[in-house]
Amino acid sequence: MLREFLFDVAKIVEGATNSDLQKVASYTAQLADRLEGAGETEAANRIRRILQNSKAGTLGLTKATGHKANAALPVDTESRLPVADEERPMPGEVKLVLSEASKRALEQFLKFFRAAGRLVAHGVGVSPSILLYGPPGCGKTQLARYVAAELSLPLITARTDSLISSYLGSTSKNIRQLFDHAASRPCVLFLDEFDALAKMRDDGRELGELKRVVISLLQNIDALGTDHVLIAATNHEHLLDPAIWRRFHYKLKLTEPDFNGRAAMAATFFGSFATPELAELVAAISDGMTGAQLRQVAEDCVRASVLADQNQVTAPQAIHAMLAANPNTPLASATVADQLRALRTLDKKRFTQARLASIFGYSQSWVSDLLRSNT
Ligand SMILES: Nc1ncnc2c1ncn2[C@@H]1O[C@H](COP(=O)(O)OP(=O)(O)OP(=O)(O)O)[C@@H](O)[C@H]1O
Ligand SMILES: [Mg+2]
Repeated sequence: MLREFLFDVAKIVEGATNSDLQKVASYTAQLADRLEGAGETEAANRIRRILQNSKAGTLGLTKATGHKANAALPVDTESRLPVADEERPMPGEVKLVLSEASKRALEQFLKFFRAAGRLVAHGVGVSPSILLYGPPGCGKTQLARYVAAELSLPLITARTDSLISSYLGSTSKNIRQLFDHAASRPCVLFLDEFDALAKMRDDGRELGELKRVVISLLQNIDALGTDHVLIAATNHEHLLDPAIWRRFHYKLKLTEPDFNGRAAMAATFFGSFATPELAELVAAISDGMTGAQLRQVAEDCVRASVLADQNQVTAPQAIHAMLAANPNTPLASATVADQLRALRTLDKKRFTQARLASIFGYSQSWVSDLLRSNT
């Protein structure tokens, strides 16, 4: 029984022995929540009472995973802007589509973290750090939100714009403050657009300052320990310092979705506006598109349908929009004849003349005439 809760107990002891009341309070509140979740309501209430009557309790923290505000986010001394944003995505709220391999890696990560208590009891850490990389719009930020939602933890996203101070030395100080804040409470720390720190090189900044920032980042990552969830994301993995790369236990490359991924995304993004057949059709004509592009086209189609008082996006509407947006299909797909030809070029087997006739509501001979015409 104790093993299940050892993770929180260890954090509370850590906080107490380092006189970090913020940490004691937030992990005690989390422990009470977990006890309650395990059916130990009496024990949970007892712990909450102790907390409320204590010095730590006066920090205003009653429920770590509830809606009570935690200690304020740290701000940059010069601009007075917070160096991070806080969000609390709810379980089931964040839709994420992944390849089978990425899904397995992520499931393992979540499983290990949920079993942190037992793992810590056996003397092995959890090392819940993930580095996400890959082209824009493929779900890196979405994945961080998904992890926070699944673990019911707040997501603390670093704001690189205010983290990088124009004043020498302040950037390292901001990084330190951010990590100290994250260490003091149960949360997911997310360093989005992580490469911005490495890219300071192009800002005409002196190399010495950049080195100091990288070193301070390394020190802070190490100090955060092997049991705090840390996620970083970058589009430019080649810009990352190899020492930083090594710090992350899981490395996940997110790329453009494959056929099954695109079908799953189409089903999500079109929602009730698409039948499973339409989702599959969309998957067939969106090879090469990112999740972000797919979502945009889907939302455009749904918007048009709503304004036209339709409760379904039709196949010709979806085809027109997808062909126009897919960077891999010819731009000039304005006429139906152009669209038929583009579909045939994409996949002759899938888009037989008979299928095209049924999709567009023409006769098969009309389709074959159109395909032969030059206009
Ligand atoms: N794999 C995915 N699963 C579900 N939705 C996705 C996926 N990829 C992209 N999306 C959709 O596209 C939007 C943009 O994705 P996201 O912001 O996560 O991309 P990113 O990889 O962080 O891009 P950037 O590098 O530009 O920050 C998301 O809000 C989501 O709706
Ligand atoms: Mg992003």
